[in-house]
Amino acid sequence: MKGTTDGTAGIGRQAVRACLLVLAVACACPVAAQGPQPDPAAADPVARGAYILHAAGCASCHTARGEGAAPLAGGTALTTAFGTFYSPNITPDPEHGIGRWTEEEFARALRQGISPEGYAYYPAFPYTSYTGMTDRDVADLWAYLRTVPPAAQENRPHELGLPSRWRSLLPVWRWLYFEEGATLVDAGRPPSWNRGAYLVGTLAHCGECHTPRGLLGGPDHDRLLAGNPEAPEGRGSVPNITPDPEDGIGDWSDDDLIFFLELGMLPDGDFAGGSMARVIEETTSRLTPEDRAAIVEFLRSVPAVGGIRG
Ligand code: HEC
Ligand code: HEC
Repeated sequence: MKGTTDGTAGIGRQAVRACLLVLAVACACPVAAQGPQPDPAAADPVARGAYILHAAGCASCHTARGEGAAPLAGGTALTTAFGTFYSPNITPDPEHGIGRWTEEEFARALRQGISPEGYAYYPAFPYTSYTGMTDRDVADLWAYLRTVPPAAQENRPHELGLPSRWRSLLPVWRWLYFEEGATLVDAGRPPSWNRGAYLVGTLAHCGECHTPRGLLGGPDHDRLLAGNPEAPEGRGSVPNITPDPEDGIGDWSDDDLIFFLELGMLPDGDFAGGSMARVIEETTSRLTPEDRAAIVEFLRSVPAVGGIRG
């Protein structure tokens, strides 16, 4: 157990972290430039919705990178093995966004992956995880989205190879892999564990990247969070985050994990790169300390899977 058995190394690391934290703030690193954390228990639906938006990482895909990009107006390229997807505009613009949608249509898109016109969405939109969202979270997220400035930005068509281009084949994929339904609650576990399960499995959809996939891109539920040799987006691989001490993160202390989720720093002092940097910036750094701790509690409890390094 790094950092817990060796007290001196632990203190040394704390000191290094404190310095890096100061540096990160001084150079206004994107990770440190987080806004205030709205309280997930807030009564105001719009404030709660803003928190859900971050916890679910919607802006990671729906807000283009670079200065001047209109929030949630889409256009982000998601490069996958099946081709390049472009996220659509989800601002309330009636022409180019979802301004004419009803709340029911929004809930159906998010939890069932079906458009108002009745066609199926590609699972590049992680409705496969969002299916477990609670009614209240969907309603508050919708309330927040109504307050976003409408952007008159046209959607860009996806550039997909055959046969992925055939949206009509999606029902087959869905039949094989998509399980609709609420996040299971384990009454034998504490609320904090259940909150962690909801954050990891549903809102923050960690498994979309960290769970290995089969041939047709369906998740391998027997190896939950065991890493993915091929990152779903872009290049590289995604590490194993099960408690396996060799291939996973079993030798990280709870503090290591909390620190990583807050600031993106690995136990060896390196910083997270690739798509994880965006997850930290958009999602985990903006969560309340209680929610980050709940994620760690849940991650500690998943079965350790060795053999995959990701
Ligand atoms: C990993 C990237 C990703 C994330 C995260 C993501 N989306 Fe999307 N979303 C997409 C893509 C890609 C599509 C287009 C799917 C298609 O064309 O079949 C999409 C489609 C949609 C649509 C349908 C829009 C339309 O015009 O039909 C809505 C609504 C939507 N997303 C809302 C959300 C919300 C709300 C969140 C957060 C809870 C979210 N998305 C998170 C990638 C993402
Ligand atoms: C969009 C894809 C994506 C999502 C979603 C995602 N991750 Fe990651 N994660 C990565 C990638 C890629 C890396 C490797 C980063 C690197 O190479 O620096 C990584 C690295 C990590 C690591 C470091 C592991 C190690 O051994 O270095 C941890 C811990 C982690 N992620 C936890 C999480 C948790 C918890 C969530 C959900 C809150 C999550 N990730 C969501 C892609 C993702």
